[in-house]
Amino acid sequence: MSPEVKPDSLLNAEGLRFDGRRVDELRPIQMEVGVLKTADGSASIRQGKTYILAAVYGPRELHPRHLTLNDRAYLRVVYRMATFSVPDRKRPAPSRREREISMVIANALQPVLFLEQYPKAVIDVFIQVIQADGGTRCAAINAASLALADAGIPMRSLVPSVAVGKAEGTLIVDLGDEEDKYGQGDVPLAILPGTNELTLLQQDGSFTREELMEAMQMGVNACKYLHELQKDALKRSYSKKTPEGVDEELDDYEDDLETDLGEADIMEDE
Ligand code: CDP
Repeated sequence: MSPEVKPDSLLNAEGLRFDGRRVDELRPIQMEVGVLKTADGSASIRQGKTYILAAVYGPRELHPRHLTLNDRAYLRVVYRMATFSVPDRKRPAPSRREREISMVIANALQPVLFLEQYPKAVIDVFIQVIQADGGTRCAAINAASLALADAGIPMRSLVPSVAVGKAEGTLIVDLGDEEDKYGQGDVPLAILPGTNELTLLQQDGSFTREELMEAMQMGVNACKYLHELQKDALKRSYSKKTPEGVDEELDDYEDDLETDLGEADIMEDE
């Protein structure tokens, strides 16, 4: 195992970051849809060194039955990190952190889903972090919303997500692991791209009111870009299946989805 090295500085004299990025630059991102053949829907995301798979099953019969909701489907999200996803072996038992992240991801996705169309059923979203290098909850939301779309679950829109943080007094977008560990804090957020409503907003570390407002604006801008990448990934997967006219159809479909956005839950966490 390579020993962890704390960088001398997270920002250099030219204002570039530890890994050479500008403050508002995301890591290289690749998203792919339909990567698992047994799942009803699936997607993968590579964001820098973070690598995540998401699989969706359902709507299907819910077990155990006591969890049944009579008026809507139960959205069951399970976020897990593989034991080999971090340099220190992660204990295989589900941690409190994994349970909390599963819950915030479910809350971030729920506002776009028409769960009332499937009373008593369950929609299972399994998220496996293969390699963790910061920003896993946000990357997981990006992949999970693609997997839900791939499964044909009725949705108002995709949900893009990113974290904005602070290092040496400067706001930076899409933190890598070193920036997460040695920076001054981070604000993961997710939005509904049609209305900019927040479906995830957490904060770690201290930010002034002005910093928080600016961080949210930077996050929203980054989410717009991520949303384009999500749409491209979805189009690519369908282009493989149907050769003609699919791009135009998908553009129309996305436009229709975004004209009818519902209320979003805004989550805040200390
Ligand atoms: O991944 P995210 O930023 O959403 O969540 P976090 O709780 O702020 O964790 C930040 C990073 O710490 C993760 O992405 C991992 O790279 C690392 N981590 C770790 O090394 N070992 C753990 N058991 C949990 C997280």
